[in-house]
Amino acid sequence: MTDWTLRDYTDTDEPSWLRCRVLGFLDTAYFDDVATHKPARAIELVAIQNGEVVGLLDAGIDGTDATIETIVVHPDHRRRGIARALLDQACTRLTARGALQVDAWTRDDDGTLAWYDAHGFTEAMRYLHVYASTPQEAAAFADRPDLMPRSGFFHAWIEHEETLRAEFQRVHVCRQFVRSLETEAS
Ligand SMILES: CC(C)(COP(=O)(O)OP(=O)(O)OC[C@H]1O[C@@H](n2cnc3c(N)ncnc32)[C@H](O)[C@@H]1OP(=O)(O)O)[C@@H](O)C(=O)NCCC(=O)NCCS
Repeated sequence: MTDWTLRDYTDTDEPSWLRCRVLGFLDTAYFDDVATHKPARAIELVAIQNGEVVGLLDAGIDGTDATIETIVVHPDHRRRGIARALLDQACTRLTARGALQVDAWTRDDDGTLAWYDAHGFTEAMRYLHVYASTPQEAAAFADRPDLMPRSGFFHAWIEHEETLRAEFQRVHVCRQFVRSLETEAS
């Protein structure tokens, strides 16, 4: 017996959706990835408890490839099967629309990595997210006399991890996880 329900997102959910997203990211490597408006997606699911969004999943689809753009469960409601239920419903919908594979990109949070591992995803590739978080770190990119960089964000190939970690305090490994939907389609 669950005390939450799953349904499609509606426009009136937006304030609650945004609060759930920001609180859900607060204890993760995406802590400063704050959205102030909800982007429209092909699949938009929410878990609702007492009228509030406690979990959300957005996914996009391009031909036979689908991507989970966001999956977040409010920190007070984790490990109750909400993300699994969101994923199951999303996979059913994506399969019905012709998707044969779903992927997701995530950083280095142990709980999130364990969740993908436990839900049929395998890692397909990884690269780096590098932040220049201080003026000193950003100074390396000062090639314009009219601009003084204070911070920066960069992608980098994984083979540079050791040297970039020595130079920058905030470096994340960003992983692509992939799950086949072909058995669900048959
Ligand atoms: C990843 C996340 C969505 C999982 O949501 P959830 O509703 O707690 O997950 P479920 O209840 O469906 O699954 C729980 C299972 O996943 C795994 N798992 C989830 N969190 C875990 C953790 N912190 N440590 C170890 N295993 C974990 C376990 O197998 C667990 O089963 P168990 O509780 O029986 O041990 C949630 O932790 C979250 O919102 N994380 C922050 C947002 C984020 O990083 N999203 C992904 C990038 S967009």
